[in-house]
This record gives sequence, C-alpha cells and structure tokens, in this order.
Amino acid sequence: MFFTPTNYRGSGLALVVDTVCRGSIMNVSPTCARVVNRRLAVPNVSRGDQHDRDGKYALHFLWPRAFGARASKAFVVLYPCGFGIMNSLLSGGIGFVGAGALGSTLARAMQHVGYRITAVASRTNASSERLAKELGNCKVMQTSQGVADNCDVVFLTVPDASIKAVATDTHWRSSQAVVHCSGASPLTVLVSAKDTGALVGAFHPLQTFGGRDATPDVLRDIAYAVEAESTLHEELETMATDLGGWPIALAAEDRVMYHASAIAACGLLATLMKLSADLWSDFSESSDEGLRALLPLVRSTLDGIEQRGFPNVLTGPMVRGDVATVASHIEALAARAPAFQSVYSHLALASLPIAKAKGGLGAHEEEQLRELLTDSLKIK
Ligand SMILES: NC(=O)c1ccc[n+]([C@@H]2O[C@H](COP(=O)([O-])OP(=O)(O)OC[C@H]3O[C@@H](n4cnc5c(N)ncnc54)[C@H](OP(=O)(O)O)[C@@H]3O)[C@@H](O)[C@H]2O)c1
Repeated sequence: MFFTPTNYRGSGLALVVDTVCRGSIMNVSPTCARVVNRRLAVPNVSRGDQHDRDGKYALHFLWPRAFGARASKAFVVLYPCGFGIMNSLLSGGIGFVGAGALGSTLARAMQHVGYRITAVASRTNASSERLAKELGNCKVMQTSQGVADNCDVVFLTVPDASIKAVATDTHWRSSQAVVHCSGASPLTVLVSAKDTGALVGAFHPLQTFGGRDATPDVLRDIAYAVEAESTLHEELETMATDLGGWPIALAAEDRVMYHASAIAACGLLATLMKLSADLWSDFSESSDEGLRALLPLVRSTLDGIEQRGFPNVLTGPMVRGDVATVASHIEALAARAPAFQSVYSHLALASLPIAKAKGGLGAHEEEQLRELLTDSLKIK
C-alpha cells in the first residue's frame, strides 16, 4: 500500500523509508527514530511531519485513514526540504511586506529550508535593506506594489492594524496568493486581494518573536495555524512542515478563541510572572531578585506540564485542601498587594476543578475554599 500525499504532486520522488508500528520503530536511522518516537508520543495524530536534525530532510507520517486516528501502522516518507513545494505556487518568488520581528525571522527561516525570497518592502528602507542584505538575492522595493509586481506569493507581515490598508492599497493579480500572519485577524482583511481573484490565506506561527534577530530554530517544533483557500491551504501546510513544525487547520469562527488562548499562555503568563515577582519588592531588595528566584520554579512547572500533564502537575494548598494557608494568602495580599489579590483569587478558583480531578481534595475543603475565594472577590 503506498500513499502519495498531494504535497508531493505525484512526482514519484518521495521515498517511503519505512512502516512504523506504534511503540516500535523498524529500520530507520537514529535521527529518524528519535523524531518518530517523539511524534508517536502525541496522541491522536493522524498525520504528522518533522524535519531531521539538520533541517535537510522532512519526514511525513501518514496514518492510513481507513485504520482511524489510532492506526497501529504508519508510513514514513522522507524527502528533501523544499521538494514538497516543487511545481507549486510557493516554488516561485516569495515577497514580504513588513520586515519586523516576524517578517525577518520567517523570511530567513523559509530561505534556510529552500524557499526563494525575492523581494521585500517595509515602512522604512532601513528595515527592508537590512533583511534583503541578510537574505542575499532579494530586491528592496519601495512599496508593497513593488513586491506584488515581482512575486507570486506575498506575505503581509505588518502590524495587524495595517494589514487591511496595505492589502487595499496594492493592486493584486489573479494568479497570486496573499497571506497574512496575524493570529486573530480574519481573512476578510484581505478582501481586496480576493476580489481580484488572488488566493488569500493566513499563516500564523504559534510562537513569540521579541525581535528581528531570532534564529530559524524558533520556528521549528511549533504549530502553524493555517486558514486558506483550496490549493493554497495545502501549500501552507507543506510550508509549516518544511519549517520543521506542524500545521493545524483553523476555521474562521475559531480564530479569536485560538488567539485568546495563545495570548493567555504567552503574554498573560508573562504578566503573571511580573506580578508574582513584584510581590518580592515588599520583603526583598527588588523584584529582580524575586524573578531570579522564581524562574527555576516556573521552568519545573512547565516541564511538569509537558511530562506529567494535568491534573497531575498541580501542587500547592488547593490540591491539599489547605484552607488556612489560602486564607492567610488572601489576608496578606488584601493588605499589602490588593491589586494582585483578585488575580490570585480568580486563578485559585479556576484551579479547584483541576485539584479535584487530581484527587485528595475533599468535598468539604473544596466547598470551604470556594466560599473563601468567592467572598474574597466581593471585598472592595
Ligand atoms: N511578534 C510576534 O510574536 C508575532 C507572533 C505571531 C504572529 N505575529 C504577527 O506578525 C505580524 C507582524 O508582527 P511583528 O511582531 O513582526 O510586528 P513588528 O515587529 O512591529 O513589524 C512590523 C513591520 O511592518 C512594517 N510596517 C508597518 N506598517 C507598514 C506599512 N504600512 N507598510 C509596510 N510596512 C509596514 C514595519 O516597518 P519598519 O520596521 O520599516 O518601521 C515593521 O518592520 C502581525 O500580524 C502579528 O500579529 C507576530
């Protein structure tokens, strides 16, 4: 039985290197086996993809649909990076409008795995020249129109608020594809491109980019939310794979929820860390010392989430049903850090179902904790 995914365009060059049984790997290289093992640890994967360590080859795991998502056997296909895009829209020149944190990192990572970035424009020449110099054979354009006129696929990596205006100010061709990288913005911000017949899509790397200098590695082993029309959807999925990540299909109506989740896990987590460290300025030299002391705790917690998952990872007084300790926290926070007290109480309330699921939290203690925390939120 041989599966030829559409990504390979039926050229017959893809190589089936092995069949894989869940739990055991046969006749694959150690690198491949490591990758396969990691993939197998992910439940309900019906199709997964991964790079080898050097980023020279990509692996596709094809779980025969007939056997369902929990198929016991899969086919592993190994192919050179960039191969999946042969004969596709993305094999032509790719352009970027917006040479900021994401645009610069993504363009470099795409080039690293074999895509051709041929033109870039940004609000300022300094940004576009810097990126073009890093990429080599890439032209600096003065406007988004210059990029559109020279590329088959254009990524609009400008701030969310500017995507629609840039798309509207540019004249597109029907043979093109226009892609934004915003998590929350709908595809309708690209309506002007769609109206000319161009394919439109969204390609959101679920990662945080603090600056333009991130290495391509930050784009590996991450999810890419893809929403696009027909063939462009498949090609963006292939691109996610080629970048070393895995695609997730996102329906238009789910974009905002998806993005809220990402912001909670990233920006709000960072804010929680800041607020937690700031409590130290009340009893220590500075919140910097608090941050330094708290970071190992956070790392262990994240490791625990990954390795043991929920609810097992949860520890602390909520799990133990330690009502007196929680009451003392509320009292101290209300007196010395009132702004943080409601944050604490809301999160502690949200952790009760997890603590209960872990076991050990008795019904009586759970009720006492719920009452204590709810009452604490009524205090003005
Ligand atoms: N940063 C992240 O963590 C992250 C993660 C996932 C997705 N995204 C998405 O990526 C996109 C870009 O975000 P970012 O963080 O990379 O922003 P950014 O660092 O501020 O970069 C935006 C770039 O767009 C350029 N620009 C602004 N207005 C423009 C216009 N009217 N025409 C042409 N260029 C313009 C800026 O030019 P100059 O430098 O020349 O001034 C800047 O280089 C957004 O849609 C965002 O939601 C970001």
